[in-house]
Parts: sequence; C-alpha cells; structure tokens
Amino acid sequence: MVLRSSAQEPVEARDPRPFLKWVGGKRQIIDALMAAVPRGLDKHTYHEPFVGGGALFFALQPKRARLSDNNLRLVRTYRGVRDRVDVLIELLRGYASKHSPEFFQKMREEDVDARRDDARVAAWMIYLNKTAYNGLYRVNSRNIFNVPFGRYAKPSILDEPNLRACSRALQNVEIEHRDFGTILEVASKGDFAYFDPPYVPLSATSYFTGYTADGFAPEDQVRLRDVALALKKKGVRVLLSNSGAGFVREIYANDFELEPIQASRQVNCKASGRGKITELIIR
Ligand SMILES: C[S@@+](CC[C@H](N)C(=O)[O-])C[C@H]1O[C@@H](n2cnc3c(N)ncnc32)[C@H](O)[C@@H]1O
Repeated sequence: MVLRSSAQEPVEARDPRPFLKWVGGKRQIIDALMAAVPRGLDKHTYHEPFVGGGALFFALQPKRARLSDNNLRLVRTYRGVRDRVDVLIELLRGYASKHSPEFFQKMREEDVDARRDDARVAAWMIYLNKTAYNGLYRVNSRNIFNVPFGRYAKPSILDEPNLRACSRALQNVEIEHRDFGTILEVASKGDFAYFDPPYVPLSATSYFTGYTADGFAPEDQVRLRDVALALKKKGVRVLLSNSGAGFVREIYANDFELEPIQASRQVNCKASGRGKITELIIR
C-alpha cells in the first residue's frame, strides 16, 4: 500500500516522483503511458532499459523490476538512492548549506568516477541536476560535466521525503549498466518492457548523415525496433515512446500499433517556445 503524506505521517510516507530532471522526462505524457500499460503485471517483471529519470517506473511502482541505462553515473546514482539513502541525505544537506557559484564549480570538476561510494556519486549527480542551468546533464569529450550554473534563487537540493520514497520504491529492484539490447537475454514471456530511447529529431537532416548529439544514431533506432519485435515474438509485452518523426512511423509501421499523443514541450529556449507537439506511443 502506498501511504499519502499528511502532517501526522513520517517523512517517508509519500508517493515517489523522479528525483532527477532528465532530458526526455515523461511527466508530460505519463497519463497516456499509464493507460497503455497492460494489466496483470504482478507475477511478471517490469523492464525499463533507458531509465533516465524513471517517470513511468516511479508512477507504476512495480513489484519486480529491472532498470538499466548505459550512463554509468546515472546507474550508480540509482544504486546510491536505493542502498545508501541516509548517507546521501546527509551529503546533500551539507552541499545545500555550502551552495554558491564557487561550490558549484568545485563540484563540476570533481573526479566523481573515482569515488567508491555510490552515495557520493548520487549526491554529486543530484546536486548538479538541481543547480545547473535547466537541470540538464551534459558532459564534454572528457566526460566532464559542463552545464553552467543555474542562478536559481532557492534550488531544492535536498527533498528528503521524496528521496526516501524513491529509495523504498527501488528496494529489490535490479539496476544495471548495460546496453538496451541485452534485454533479450533477461526478459521472459509475460514480462513488460517500456523503452524510452533518445528521440529521433523532428527536423535534422544531419541526423541521417552521421551527426547525433547523444550518440543514438538511426542504426540504433532500427536495432531497437528489431529488439522490440524479437521480444514481442517471445511473448514479452512492449511499449515504446518516440517522436512523431516520419522515420519513426516508417520503421514501426509494419509490425506495431502507433498511437499519436499531444505533449507540451519546450521547443526553443524562449519561454514562448512551449508548444504542443505530436509524439508516438508504440506497441
Ligand atoms: C530519453 S532518456 C529516458 C527518459 C526517461 N524515460 C524519463 O522519464 O526521464 C534516454 C536514456 O537512454 C540512455 N541511453 C542512450 N543510449 C543507450 C543505450 N544504447 N543503451 C541503454 N541506454 C541508453 C541515456 O543515458 C538516457 O538516460
């Protein structure tokens, strides 16, 4: 049972929400995704191989789950939240008290991969995510975090009740660092898999000539389609989301059902650039 928070309840009694803001976050279309989740998951495993901020995982709170991503720092952050939440909370409390442009700069330069404790990686990731411009995660060619200081008046660096709720939701969940394709080795008949890959850009001719900002190329999109099809044939229930780009419609047209949905997205950096765009739910 999920407890709702009220003044009398302990701090941890509340529904978990994603503890990171992640590019492609699904909060916008969560209702449409929830409606597309098949019934009867209790005896099966939920798989989310591009976990990012994990919006659908936290909304569903499945009993059995395997989450993965190919960003090792993100995977270590989830493990820190799952296994070391008390230490993580104390670290973030300390960072919140020291927050300043200078402290932010110091954190950006930290050699976080050398830290052996996942709580340290999680604290680093969450601190930068809450204080960097637009809550982006972006690194340079040497894997150094390079998003500028966010200038927020009061960034919420530590949200203790939510971290505790997320930690509880992650107990007994496997969190792995791997490529999405390895799901073929672990998913069984009756399981459910939700794929939220980096989206195909709506207007970028350079995409098809080898330029991809996030390293996810047209070949990877086709490989993902093939993985999803192989899973379907095995009796695994699949759900995918992607942009409404023609290329997406083309590669899924034959073997999948496509449902267009409206999402309100930031389409350029001005506030006026928020507009409704069509995205696709695929199954
Ligand atoms: C669009 S985001 C997922 C957003 C997430 N569903 C949410 O609600 O915040 C895509 C994720 O895929 C991961 N990724 C990119 N290429 C991958 C690959 N080949 N295998 C596994 N994960 C990958 C990225 O690190 C990123 O976290």
